[in-house]
Amino acid sequence: MLKLGTFVVLCIAAQPSPAQDSPPQTAVSPKKEEAEALEACAEAVLKGLQKIPATRDLRFEGKVSEAEALCRGGQRAVQFRNTPWVDWSNYWGTGDASSVPPLLVSKAVEERGIAGALLDLEYQRIALIKFNLFDNNGTYQQYVSGRDGVGGPALKVWPEMRLKPDDPNFKAVGGDGGQECKGDLLRWRTINGICNDVLNPAMGSSGQLFARNVEFETTFPESNQSVYTRNRHGDRLGLLQPDPQVISRRLLTRAQSNPAACLDGHGLPNNSKEANCDYKPAPFFNVLAAYWIQFMTHDWFSHLEEGHNAPQFMEVGCTTQLVNNIPTPLTPAQIQDLGCRPQDRMDRGYVAQDTPPGTFSSGGHQYLDRAPKTMKNTNTAWWDASQLYGYDSVSIRRVKRDPSDQAKLLLEPSPGQSGPGYLPVLSPGDPMNPEWAGQEAAAFPDNWTIGISFLHNLFAREHNSFVAEFRRLAAESPNADCGLRDPAAPKKVIHYKDVTPEELFQMARLVVAAEIAKIHTIEWTPQLLYDEPLYKGMNANWNGLLGTGDAEVSKALSNLVVSSFGKSKDVVKETQWYSVFASGPGIFGLGSKVHGYDITKAKYTNGGVNHFGSPFNFPEEFVSVYRLHPLVPDLLEYRELGKDPNQVVEKIPVIDTFESRATEFMHKRGAANWALTLGRQRLGLLELNNSPAFLQNLKLPRLDTPTGQIDVVALDIIRDREHGVPRFNEFRRQYGLRQLTSFDDFVDHSLAPDSSARLDQEKAVKVLREVYGQHVCDASKVITDAQRNPDNTEINDCLGHPNGTLIDNIEDVDTVIGYLAEPVRPHGYAISETQFVVFILNASRRLFSDRFFTSSFRPEFYSRLGVDWVNNNGPGPAMIEKGMPNGHRQPVSPLKRVLLRNIPELSAELDTVVNAFDPWARDRGQYYCLQWKPRPGAESDASFSQTTSCPASK
Ligand code: HEM
Repeated sequence: MLKLGTFVVLCIAAQPSPAQDSPPQTAVSPKKEEAEALEACAEAVLKGLQKIPATRDLRFEGKVSEAEALCRGGQRAVQFRNTPWVDWSNYWGTGDASSVPPLLVSKAVEERGIAGALLDLEYQRIALIKFNLFDNNGTYQQYVSGRDGVGGPALKVWPEMRLKPDDPNFKAVGGDGGQECKGDLLRWRTINGICNDVLNPAMGSSGQLFARNVEFETTFPESNQSVYTRNRHGDRLGLLQPDPQVISRRLLTRAQSNPAACLDGHGLPNNSKEANCDYKPAPFFNVLAAYWIQFMTHDWFSHLEEGHNAPQFMEVGCTTQLVNNIPTPLTPAQIQDLGCRPQDRMDRGYVAQDTPPGTFSSGGHQYLDRAPKTMKNTNTAWWDASQLYGYDSVSIRRVKRDPSDQAKLLLEPSPGQSGPGYLPVLSPGDPMNPEWAGQEAAAFPDNWTIGISFLHNLFAREHNSFVAEFRRLAAESPNADCGLRDPAAPKKVIHYKDVTPEELFQMARLVVAAEIAKIHTIEWTPQLLYDEPLYKGMNANWNGLLGTGDAEVSKALSNLVVSSFGKSKDVVKETQWYSVFASGPGIFGLGSKVHGYDITKAKYTNGGVNHFGSPFNFPEEFVSVYRLHPLVPDLLEYRELGKDPNQVVEKIPVIDTFESRATEFMHKRGAANWALTLGRQRLGLLELNNSPAFLQNLKLPRLDTPTGQIDVVALDIIRDREHGVPRFNEFRRQYGLRQLTSFDDFVDHSLAPDSSARLDQEKAVKVLREVYGQHVCDASKVITDAQRNPDNTEINDCLGHPNGTLIDNIEDVDTVIGYLAEPVRPHGYAISETQFVVFILNASRRLFSDRFFTSSFRPEFYSRLGVDWVNNNGPGPAMIEKGMPNGHRQPVSPLKRVLLRNIPELSAELDTVVNAFDPWARDRGQYYCLQWKPRPGAESDASFSQTTSCPASK
């Protein structure tokens, strides 16, 4: 437990610290280092608390002063201060056992490191809330200039979020008068997402425009609309420039040691286990986690309408490459060498608005009032399990209820399989594209694969498990108060026996959506970001730091707020610091435990949400960092539970589990075998040259083009360009991360010069230079206003290199490429720090903004059973996991409970599993170890033919 006294020495200096040369590393005794660190802590205290800066260019970039670095991480933290990467990952205790100080040093040192990391992350989040919210729906001017004397960030209701007169619920919410959701619109998650916010009915609903996290002026850099973008990129960029298929083939392709055993991801006949497609696997994250995140994105957003884009077709590259920095046509021999396809065509992305945006001025600055083009999110932005339950009037027709009990989802037995059954197949009358025929009926049917099939079936079973338990309680105590209330008759007690099938169905949806959000927040994410600060941070998002046993950290954060802003009357400051306050109690359930709670009044039902002055929707930049296709291997190592789980019996190409073939495989082989298969195998690392071959050659017959194929990996780059995502370096500056100054920054110079990782990075730098090129720089051209040089001068085209020299086109690197190339990541991070910073903002916002996760997380909406189910991960009291994983006493994780409940055959396999997204047969070792080593009993599993071990603790 942290002592408050220790905590106050964590404060950060007021200004970004200038880069400095690394001091030579000398061997210092642990005790001496501790003494030096303490001295540094005292120096840091004298400098006082950091203030959130007034302008974006003065953000702290995740870099702290030398004293703070020394205080929190000793010499190691100081040594890496001059790299572009955030400092906290070098603090004590933030890595594996080797980051923990030796025993002779006091425990407070380690705690200081972890708490310092949490504090840096909190500062990042506050600054992100202040500088990175840009709504496209017409509210941005109010955000900047305020309205009716209220500061923009403190606004809570927007006319733009009203339902329009042609909406069928227009009258029900108040028509032309003040709009407020009432009655059934208030009780449940609605199909198209309206009325989550009681006073802003349209917010987050299907068809609202995607937001942005970057200044509108920096979007669509190809269109050269601002002087900065012109100075940054010259005339080098276009939709197909640099060529996306060339980028895909040169920078993203997986190298194969035996191409004949892989066959571009098609494997060998009869799913022979002799097939092999090399990929770079992550030792601490399994394939189930890859499909989980695809499953999540199908809940959160989509640019497509019913699985397709706009009717116009476009070319997709494989036509040019740079020769002496000039785009030059590819020759047929080069095309063949690359393996790309100039004949591929793809349908263009939909655009909602492309007329020039309006402008306004405020405080002497000129602003755009939206991005030059906008796109619609055709899904609900809420975390409402809409991939299962529907998001519009078409998708809901694919959601089948059980005719014998309308509260349940329809599950049908599959011949030869026992258990609760499987989702039915789409029937001819259902709305569908021809290629979906034969696959399971689900609200979101696109890109259906075996993993998506598995998760849909699992949560349909979970829905029915909840209904069954509710019915059991109803049979046991029919006259008991179930906790539910109807806002139309709020005083009337609803007994178990009074609950209608429709009410029970909607309640189960609320519960399943909350469980999914909980799994994602405290199980998936802490495994994606496998270290102690993130374990604490994510649990704090959900339960609050109080819930994690860190009452002292929580208290210290509150003190920080009070000492900085406690006496402020400034609503803007209060809004920024709200997120810090929320670290104490946690975001989940915020505002739900208010005395006198009344479900007929918006001030209670809606009282816990906070949109920070900008209506909630996902930004285009969020979609970009979820383009996680490298996670998917080409071949699935198929295992069977009834045989020896340690044996891979087949290698099944992922591509052969696409669409109806997923359903066939699921029905024939059964959920338990697929759980075992997906749970044991490692997913692919998010790095360069690790994208699946099958996705580079995906057949999409619906395209009716000369090849009928598309390179999805190249398409990721094209779509980002269509959506105007800024290129990587400006993307980082916009999010408050330090810029890179050449491709050489993609090399981790702390690695041994002859290490294979470093040699790979150096090879990638060479290819980046060939693909993206170089130019002669012009120091008179200022390229950004989002960041400044360490000496406070403006950043120009030369990025610190002498004027007129040939420098790397680092500014042109596509964001997807840049984040995959990042060589330095915090310990246990499957994603890079650039992707992570996008999550810091948006992952907490989608909790802060959702009434059903905050002030409406109450028995009146969920029932008593529902509230307990979400809190305890299922029926009955919370179950506690064996031992102290990573030093924590913790409940059995929520997904493990869902799996045990709905696929009980897995109980022996899951016995030693702590986190369902950690490869199931891995020995987790000690403290955030990333080793690849079999747990006892799995020694004969061939996937452990090459093992690695953790560094020993000091
Ligand atoms: C076998 C697995 C997968 C297949 C076949 C697949 C296929 C596709 C295709 C064809 C598109 C292009 C849509 C378009 O813009 O026209 C796409 C987009 C996308 N995929 Fe995947 N994908 C797979 C797995 C994943 C995974 C594991 C993730 C992880 C998050 C993911 C995230 C995305 C995202 C974020 C988009 C952009 C969606 C949008 O713009 O709305 N995909 N995928």
